[in-house]
Amino acid sequence: MRVTFTANGKPVEADDVWEGESLLYVLRERVGLPGSKNACEQGECGSCTVYLDDVPVCSCLVAAGQVQDREVRTVEGLADESGLDPVQQAFIDAGAVQCGFCTPGLLVQTHDLLEREPQPSDTDIREALSGNLCRCTGYEKIMDAVRLASARKCQKVGTSE
Ligand code: FES
Ligand code: FES
Repeated sequence: MRVTFTANGKPVEADDVWEGESLLYVLRERVGLPGSKNACEQGECGSCTVYLDDVPVCSCLVAAGQVQDREVRTVEGLADESGLDPVQQAFIDAGAVQCGFCTPGLLVQTHDLLEREPQPSDTDIREALSGNLCRCTGYEKIMDAVRLASARKCQKVGTSE
C-alpha cells in the first residue's frame, strides 16, 4: 500500500508498505529519516520516539497505515534554519550523549516536556523521561541537560519580553 503523510513539514509518500510495517521502519528505511533509533522494537526503550500530531509516541508501535494524512515530527525536525533546538544544544553542552542510541527519543520527549512545562521539577523530568532508557550515562547528565535547556529557554523568553 501507499502511505502519504507529512514528515517534518514536508509531504512524503511511501510505496509498497506492508500492512504490518511500523512507522519507525518507514521513517528509517523508506523516507530517509534515520534519526529515530530502533533499540527494542517493543515499546520498551523510547529510542524511537517521534511526535505524531504533536503527541510523542513510540514509532515502533505505530502501524505505518495509521499515519495516513497525519503529521509526524522526528528528531531531525527539531532543528530549524537558525540552528539546533535549545534542547539539542543542551544535551551536547551537558555531555548527555555517549553512544547516542537513546538520544533522539530523549530529545523529542524533553522537547515535549518543556513545551508543556517550561520549568519542570526534577520529579517532572524523571516522570516525563521514565519511558526512555539509557544504558550509558546513568541519567545524571541527562537531568543536567534538561535543566540547562529549561534555564536557557526561560532566559530566552525573559529577554524577548
Ligand atoms: S525501539 Fe521503539 S520503544 Fe524501543
Ligand atoms: S547514551 Fe548510550 S544508551 Fe544513552
